[in-house]
Amino acid sequence: MAPLYLFLLLSPLLAAPAIGADEEVPNRYAVRRAPPGGAGVNAAAQEYLDPTFPLPRPPAAAPHCTVPVLSYSFGDTYGAAPAKASYAPPAGCPAPWSLVVLTFSAYCAGDQYDRVAAVWLDGAELLRTTTAEPTPDGVGWTVRKDVTRYSALLRSPPGGVLSVMLENVVNDKYTGVYSVNVSLEFHGTPPFLSSSPAGGVASNDPEAPPLPDSYFQPADLIIPISDGKGNGKNGFWFRIQNASDSHSKLVTIPSSTYRAVLEVFVSPHSNDEFWYSNPPDIYIKENNLTTPRGNAAYREVVVSVDHRFVGSFVPFPVIYTGGINPLFWQPVTALGAFDLPTYDIELTPFLALLVDSNAHDIGLSVVDGIAEWLVDANLHLWLDPSSSDVHAALGPYQTPRLKLSRHYSTRLLDGKFKIKAKRKSSFSGWVKSSFGNFTTEVETELKATSYVEFANEGRNKTVSLEVKQETKTLIRADTRRVIGKVEKEAKYPLSFFTETEDGENGTSIVTVSLSHGLNVETEFETKGFENKEKLDDQQTAMGWMVVVDHDVVNGSVTTTQTYRFSDEEREYERMIDVMDGAVLSDNVTESFSAMAGIAVV
Ligand SMILES: *[C@@H]1O[C@H](CO)[C@@H](O)[C@H](O)[C@H]1NC(C)=O
Ligand SMILES: *[C@@H]1O[C@H](CO)[C@@H](O)[C@H](O)[C@H]1NC(C)=O
Ligand SMILES: *[C@@H]1O[C@H](CO)[C@@H](O)[C@H](O)[C@H]1NC(C)=O
Ligand SMILES: *[C@@H]1O[C@H](CO)[C@@H](O)[C@H](O)[C@H]1NC(C)=O
Ligand SMILES: *[C@@H]1O[C@H](CO)[C@@H](O)[C@H](O)[C@H]1NC(C)=O
Ligand SMILES: *[C@@H]1O[C@H](CO)[C@@H](O)[C@H](O)[C@H]1NC(C)=O
Ligand SMILES: *[C@@H]1O[C@H](CO)[C@@H](O)[C@H](O)[C@H]1NC(C)=O
Ligand SMILES: *[C@@H]1O[C@H](CO)[C@@H](O)[C@H](O)[C@H]1NC(C)=O
Repeated sequence: MAPLYLFLLLSPLLAAPAIGADEEVPNRYAVRRAPPGGAGVNAAAQEYLDPTFPLPRPPAAAPHCTVPVLSYSFGDTYGAAPAKASYAPPAGCPAPWSLVVLTFSAYCAGDQYDRVAAVWLDGAELLRTTTAEPTPDGVGWTVRKDVTRYSALLRSPPGGVLSVMLENVVNDKYTGVYSVNVSLEFHGTPPFLSSSPAGGVASNDPEAPPLPDSYFQPADLIIPISDGKGNGKNGFWFRIQNASDSHSKLVTIPSSTYRAVLEVFVSPHSNDEFWYSNPPDIYIKENNLTTPRGNAAYREVVVSVDHRFVGSFVPFPVIYTGGINPLFWQPVTALGAFDLPTYDIELTPFLALLVDSNAHDIGLSVVDGIAEWLVDANLHLWLDPSSSDVHAALGPYQTPRLKLSRHYSTRLLDGKFKIKAKRKSSFSGWVKSSFGNFTTEVETELKATSYVEFANEGRNKTVSLEVKQETKTLIRADTRRVIGKVEKEAKYPLSFFTETEDGENGTSIVTVSLSHGLNVETEFETKGFENKEKLDDQQTAMGWMVVVDHDVVNGSVTTTQTYRFSDEEREYERMIDVMDGAVLSDNVTESFSAMAGIAVV
């Protein structure tokens, strides 16, 4: 057994006996074991992936341009300003576009931790991503994201600046340098210019005008809610350090705005990377531990307008590739790690507060958050083309209270910590533009249950998080008739069990079994158009690893991922089985109702 003082000297960042055992679990690790099959000097780099629905292929006849924007190697970039490149829309493919895809390709060889990265255009975030952990033979991967909704930014005249931040540390031990290419791919004429969808159906009901076509298209204007400076070492991220640390930006929006949606980007790091497994402070204090990873296991991101609550969400618990057991995420990453989910808050009911040509404060904070959360947002605005002023008023506003119940019991290093959270809110507001007088009603219900149990003197840990968030949005015409409806239900269950045992020569053997899911159902209805989308993404993983300090030196794992997506026209399913870094099977089943055929690969 390594004596404790040696541990203290070698590892100042872990200068205390951590939770329970002498290791904090879950934790972030770097894999330093030989790659499976032996370290071949000329072994090919392995391709890593996060299975998602393949982006729709546009019609072959549509014009198509690819703009390479940035190519950069992120070596020892910690504390450096973001990498920058100038951007101009392609002359050969003028706006509007049916589809714009951002491609983020990366390659890295050596030893390295996972890192967080983001891509911004003129301070508005387009992609939040994390890196795969490299092997000595190298790993490469490509993230493709549909960024059509940012058309307003992408079509802005030349002079645009694209920035990429990736905070990496390179030294004698951690050698991996991340090479990154970012490009944008533009596809031609959107279908709404050739055939009219949704709200474009001619109305024979003069008393209930349909929602305008533009309502369903990308916003006319996007205002970044980010740290405007962006040049210094902080990038454009707001860095939230604690529960009372709220970050905000003052914005003045056009008085012709008839619809507004705030899209929030968020990722937790350092002491809150594994927030869903943090014990309450009382446990840390009772056991004389000094770990900063406390404040119990509930977090909620809150959005405010002029300090008034306008929406919130429990963030989906993304596990980065070094997290819990990094061998699980080779070569299939954890859900969302390459393209972190973003969260839309409908602000249309609150337009009355915003369209007065004055500056207003849009704020972001994290309930019970500890250092640190990287947060920013994009304010998507739709403008009335025929009038410079809308009229608007805020309707019933039910002050939403967060109901939190906590039940903690501790006995030395053992403990059971249960939290139940519930928040219900309902907002309404009308906006009269040249399109008509539309009332938007938004009802949300958020429920979460968090359970963390430490047993066997803290060596056995059970973590379970269940989140369900329902949002119902109704749009009514002057006559009170419903002319648009969106119902969305998101659920994300996460559970895992870890057992830590002492191995030989100061090693720990950590055994983990994990199950993680993301289920989102969206139903959308408007005059002449209906759609139902279902996403069901599921991972299960189990196995063991041998850990020295934060290095994984041996282990064996299996991971299974099942990704299912369907809407009215398509069904797509992909099932992948992985063992010790090798893909054992990768089955894709696809069907399109238009083709009425099933392709099995
Ligand atoms: C980036 O682009 C360059 C030039 O096309 C290419 O040589 C390199 O392999 C690319 N790197 C990645 C990580 O895609
Ligand atoms: C929260 O963080 C902010 C920003 O770092 C700091 O100024 C403030 O003192 C902190 N508050 C508490 C209660 O720790
Ligand atoms: C924590 O420290 C206090 C004061 O030194 C001591 O009385 C107590 O027994 C310690 N508790 C544990 C669980 O070690
Ligand atoms: C710890 O976990 C192991 C493996 O599941 C189990 O055999 C053991 O009984 C557990 N110990 C306690 C005290 O729960
Ligand atoms: C818009 O509709 C709401 C709800 O029906 C109504 O209360 C309001 O007076 C209308 N506004 C105008 C300017 O007509
Ligand atoms: C533990 O260390 C000793 C001395 O360095 C070595 O002989 C032994 O093989 C090591 N055991 C393991 C399992 O690595
Ligand atoms: C890893 O563990 C396996 C199974 O216990 C063992 O056979 C192998 O020798 C270990 N490898 C190393 C490098 O310790
Ligand atoms: C893929 O299909 C094969 C053959 O039908 C089957 O044996 C395997 O279990 C499937 N894999 C997954 C992950 O479902």
